[in-house]
Amino acid sequence: MGTIILGTGSWLPRRVMSNVELEEMVDTTDEWIRTRTGIENRRIAGAGEKTYQLAAKAARKALATAQLSAEEIELIVVGTISSHMLMPSCACYVQHEIGAVNAQAYDINAACSGFLYGIDIADHHIQARKEAKVLIIGAEAISSRLNWQDRNTCILFGDGAGAAVFGYSEDARRGVLGSSHGTDGSQWELLYMHTAPSTNADIEVAGNKGAFLVMEGKEIFKFAVKAMEEAVFRVLDDTGVSLADVSLLIPHQANMRILSKLLERLAVPREKVFLNVMNYGNTSAASIPIALDEANRAGRLKADDTILFCSVGGGLTWGATLIRW
Ligand code: COA
Repeated sequence: MGTIILGTGSWLPRRVMSNVELEEMVDTTDEWIRTRTGIENRRIAGAGEKTYQLAAKAARKALATAQLSAEEIELIVVGTISSHMLMPSCACYVQHEIGAVNAQAYDINAACSGFLYGIDIADHHIQARKEAKVLIIGAEAISSRLNWQDRNTCILFGDGAGAAVFGYSEDARRGVLGSSHGTDGSQWELLYMHTAPSTNADIEVAGNKGAFLVMEGKEIFKFAVKAMEEAVFRVLDDTGVSLADVSLLIPHQANMRILSKLLERLAVPREKVFLNVMNYGNTSAASIPIALDEANRAGRLKADDTILFCSVGGGLTWGATLIRW
């Protein structure tokens, strides 16, 4: 009895920002960005493209692919760290925007691991209530939470949203085969974002720099490769699937150098990996579901294929998930 994906969707903001444009904003070059990160372009949200609006567009496409109406969804979970409001959640806005009148809706904050953590929630929910249809979304307008004077971070990230609708299949061979997730809160300072300043001076965080992303690039690089590698081997071990049997790896599109190192360590050939980081940069929680949708629409996911996902993000959080299509 599997938790299967019934449909996928994604949505990207209209505006494309190239590396050359970034040369005008910070002390960087197209060549530096390409060689260090593999990123060429990213999308930047504009008017009418708040996080929930991107999310709702991706959700509608996923529902259309699944041939389901919004009324049939009973749970919406959005992984995001860049909603335009702290409360209500992004998921509440999406619920209203798409007319999912029978759904409960909430956000999770697992940074770039948000979508894989969301798959876990969908799986548990559906295994408990097999008639349930669950919408998991990763959505970010992270451009609203970047320090555009910081060349270490602003060149890496981009905006977008991806979504998948989950349901139940009697076919036990299909669906979510397993997952392995982890968290290490002690390493939070490698990648973080403050909130707005506290109005209670007693609990104000010392050195609040503002609500934008801060990163220790070198340290996060080392951590990311190791965490994803270990999570991949753990989920393969747990499920008894070998890496050779994996049809496609869809990793979190952090940057090309992290991914190259990971592929080298896993000894996975490039043709078995879905990559779009050059086009969109790191879209945080949106990166895996956008890649999933693009792989799906490109016909790269066939019945019986074993699809492996892995991620790492602020928290620190990480994980790997295995699905049979
Ligand atoms: N353009 C030009 N120079 C830049 C730059 C930019 N955008 N960003 C940093 N530099 C400079 C640094 O200031 C440094 O200069 P210095 O030697 O004069 O001090 C130099 O380039 C080298 O910096 P370094 O940090 O050693 O670069 P790197 O080779 O480690 O690459 C990252 C930097 C960010 C690309 C790399 O550390 C990385 O990929 N980290 C992981 C980031 C990530 O994916 N985070 C999200 C995970 S979910």
